Amino acid sequence: MCGIVGYVGDNQAAPFLLEGLSKLEYRGYDSAGIAVFDGKGIRVEKSVGRLAALRDKIKDNMPVGTIGIGHTRWATHGRPSDRNAHPHTDCSGDFVIVHNGIIENYLSLKEELIETGHDFKSETDTEVVAHLLEEVYNGDFVSSVREVLRRIEGSYSLVFMSKKHPEELICTKQDNPLVIGIGEGENFIASDIPAIIARTRRTYIMNDGELAVVTKDAIKITNRAGEPVTKKVFEVNWNAEAAEKGGYEHFMLKEIHEQPKAVRDTMSQRIAKDGKSIVMKELKWDADYLNSFRKVHMVACGTAYHAALVGKFYIERLARIPVEVDVASEFRYRQPIVDESTLLIVVSQSGETSDTLAALKESKRLGAKTLALTNVVGSSIAREADQVLYTWAGPEIAVASTKAYTTQIILFFMLALYMAELKGSQTPEAVESLIGKLKEIPAQIGETLSDVEPIKTFAKQYGFNEDVFYIGRSLDYEVALEGALKLKEISYIHAEAYAAGELKHGTLALIVEGVPVIALATQKSVYEKTLSNIKEVKARDAVVIGIAAQGNTDLEKYVDHVIYIPNTDELLIPILAVVPLQLLAYYAAITRGCDVDKPRNLAKSVTVE
Ligand code: M6R
Repeated sequence: MCGIVGYVGDNQAAPFLLEGLSKLEYRGYDSAGIAVFDGKGIRVEKSVGRLAALRDKIKDNMPVGTIGIGHTRWATHGRPSDRNAHPHTDCSGDFVIVHNGIIENYLSLKEELIETGHDFKSETDTEVVAHLLEEVYNGDFVSSVREVLRRIEGSYSLVFMSKKHPEELICTKQDNPLVIGIGEGENFIASDIPAIIARTRRTYIMNDGELAVVTKDAIKITNRAGEPVTKKVFEVNWNAEAAEKGGYEHFMLKEIHEQPKAVRDTMSQRIAKDGKSIVMKELKWDADYLNSFRKVHMVACGTAYHAALVGKFYIERLARIPVEVDVASEFRYRQPIVDESTLLIVVSQSGETSDTLAALKESKRLGAKTLALTNVVGSSIAREADQVLYTWAGPEIAVASTKAYTTQIILFFMLALYMAELKGSQTPEAVESLIGKLKEIPAQIGETLSDVEPIKTFAKQYGFNEDVFYIGRSLDYEVALEGALKLKEISYIHAEAYAAGELKHGTLALIVEGVPVIALATQKSVYEKTLSNIKEVKARDAVVIGIAAQGNTDLEKYVDHVIYIPNTDELLIPILAVVPLQLLAYYAAITRGCDVDKPRNLAKSVTVE
């Protein structure tokens, strides 16, 4: 996730570009840059760090000109640096582009372009687009851009600018957002409405495959076939704050709804074209390397720890390698048995959690090989670990982690399949079938998010209870832990998760009439066992809300309400089952009037021990 902007008009471009980018920093903030045509050439200015660093750099020498583009970056390919900051240019500097998304076939394109003499300056996937445009340019800007689009694969919103066509910008999108703001004697381009709302409320929301040629007086939009498209003007009636949250009331809700796209991005480039195997270009492991490990040891905090528990399940089940999981704050102080034969995996959305970082350093000291699963490119944990897998979820702003969790689980699932392939512990048919199910997950999350009304109703009904219990067995238990944490941290309701079979060893004493129990019953292999635990709490007059896969109507006989989620392989169900629990926590917090995005006493990134 990055933010892009464009301006063409009667006024100076740079002030709008900087103002627009400042409203898009929620989309990324590890570097920023702008490019402005000054009548002779295109001046590109960029800087690593937040937008303030760029502002500082150019404050006494602002680029002058009335057409330009800008970018605020959230690194995916290539660490945050001046070189990797956008805009990117071709060899001559005549073509300049900004990009949000991932060009999946950039490596093969880059090789081809290097062979034909192109000189690359960055490690990004994006730069290939500028060089490709230079390579295919035929004198006609639009048809050359179309040729580029035919050759690139992946997700993008792109703005193209050329010294040879100094009065127009071309923009297009595929699977990433793009809006055009309609002004008078000027027009605007942006990833999102907050960037333009101070200048105009009249917009075109671009659809996938559409391409717009934007000049100061006209916006010409065509479809993939080059036919003109007549679009309705979308009048924005949100205030600036709502616009930043994409029209959602809170970042948390926005991020919950971003999950289909986030998990799709995590998978992107990691599934072979034929859908038969997992590709982990970042790892370059072979069977001997993997077999050199006696065990895997995972360390993380909070939600990332819960994701690691699911990861343990996947690696043990699919790759048959023993896995231990520790809370990072405990790990260092219990003299863990970690040495050269340990693969130490740390999980951290921010990549900055102090306990996780300390555990990573300690493990390296003890000789372990280390792998980080993180969301933030160039973070301390990413830099410290021997190897890194990024979740590519985009920035997570809300303190309560949502899309980080689901993307971490997706990444663990893919890692486990990758290990299983190397070890030969699963048949090729089984791997292919699981990959098939994995590919359905983004749409299935979307389905889960399509009807939130029953969840809102439960939240209103039970939002004022003092205690809520979550129970489940096997993977359902791991999800229950995450569901309870979500409820606790944002609604301040006392919530506890229990392995359903453990209830009778103490906790059952707390179950009295009217206590809400969320019972996860998605795991077919332990369904009958879970049912007997549900009967135990029902017999004490608890109010039970069951979570089940579609088709399991049997559960309705034993509980008060059922929330259904789409059906998939048992192993993948946690990714779907957690979504109603995130929503339940969110709406319970709303019912209680809590500050959802900034819960009391908590910080997004815990950089103290
Ligand atoms: O950035 P990290 O993933 O290392 O953060 C770990 C925890 O602090 C984090 O998951 C925390 O538990 C969240 N607030 C949970 O929603």
